Amino acid sequence: MAKLTLKDIDLKAKKVLVRADFNVPQDENLNITDDTRVRATLPTIKYILENNPEKVILMSHLGRPDGKVVAKYSLKPVSARLQELLGIPVKFLSDCAGEEIKREIGSAKEKVILLENLRFHPEEEANDGAFSKSLASLADIFVNDAFGTAHRAHASTEGVARHLESAAGFLLEKEIQYLGNAVQDPKRPFMVILGGAKVSDKIGVIENLLPKCDAIIIGGGMAYTFLKARGKNIGNSKLEKDKLGLAKDILDKAKSLNKEILLPVDNVVVDKIAPDSKAEIAGENIPDGKIAVDIGPETAALFKEKLKTSKTVVWNGPLGIFEMDAFASGTKDVAVFLGSLGITTIIGGGDTAAAIAKFHLEDKMTHISTGGGASLEFLEGKTLPGIAALTEKK
Ligand code: 3PG
Repeated sequence: MAKLTLKDIDLKAKKVLVRADFNVPQDENLNITDDTRVRATLPTIKYILENNPEKVILMSHLGRPDGKVVAKYSLKPVSARLQELLGIPVKFLSDCAGEEIKREIGSAKEKVILLENLRFHPEEEANDGAFSKSLASLADIFVNDAFGTAHRAHASTEGVARHLESAAGFLLEKEIQYLGNAVQDPKRPFMVILGGAKVSDKIGVIENLLPKCDAIIIGGGMAYTFLKARGKNIGNSKLEKDKLGLAKDILDKAKSLNKEILLPVDNVVVDKIAPDSKAEIAGENIPDGKIAVDIGPETAALFKEKLKTSKTVVWNGPLGIFEMDAFASGTKDVAVFLGSLGITTIIGGGDTAAAIAKFHLEDKMTHISTGGGASLEFLEGKTLPGIAALTEKK
């Protein structure tokens, strides 16, 4: 990697400021419902602790409080979970910047400190220079492990790195290795599975990966704009009319590059989207009034047949409305199969990661990204500001 990483820096007796992405889902009682992102940062925190730092100062955002103090977005519950997972005391501070916080860090007996939500300050998202400087003044070294927020140019991801020696943490490094290197230099055949509701969300990924991959498999709501572009009847299924021309261009481009794009050949359809709606199977042409909510069994078989021949698969976006059990079969069937192949499987964050977790297939995949928007932007080939800002390796 061209940037400094954790193992390149001397941590001994240093105050180490770590940007983590502890933006975890919570229920109405503020219980953490999925602590994957907290667990994913443990290797970085533990490694720093093993190298005798003065302190590890962790910072993160949670939710979108828009620059105001909003009690439900406090990181306090994360502090408790982190303490449980690390097995040592974690001191939680009620703010993230300022002289008082600096003093509290200085006098804390605990080695690990978690600061309150950065986004309680409007200066965080504004990437304010003075705020970045004040964060930097809390420590000697900066480590960015927040891959999920690396696509945001905020004070704690980009601004702070201008003032301190800045290195990538293990999680950030791992994400770059899988999402970056594996896509740049994949074992072939290399296939991409795309799904999710909207074509517009995936245009950048298609444009970046179409020339690099051997085939693209498309399901989910976005498939129906493509099917329409191929002249099929899609009933009342999701259609982005303003993206029809683009879908046609993508299909033409794929042909000219000799790349296959596979679309559903049958579909689970309903009259209205509700968990108890009566579902039927329709072919490639969906009857008027019907809405496609999942790929059908023939499509799953077709996709699996294709995937069987691959060595690397990147998957971003579910193939149906998997959140409703009745429409989860297509996504599950393909996910189980993929997990059984023993090939390199890279799963995008957000909905795709949630689907893999729902089917308990986490251990079957090579890498599951902790970033939703960040993994998408990375797969689009964009430079992520949180990575770009890190110190270059000498
Ligand atoms: C995420 O959950 O995708 C990251 O934590 C970034 O959050 P944001 O979209 O609110 O910036």
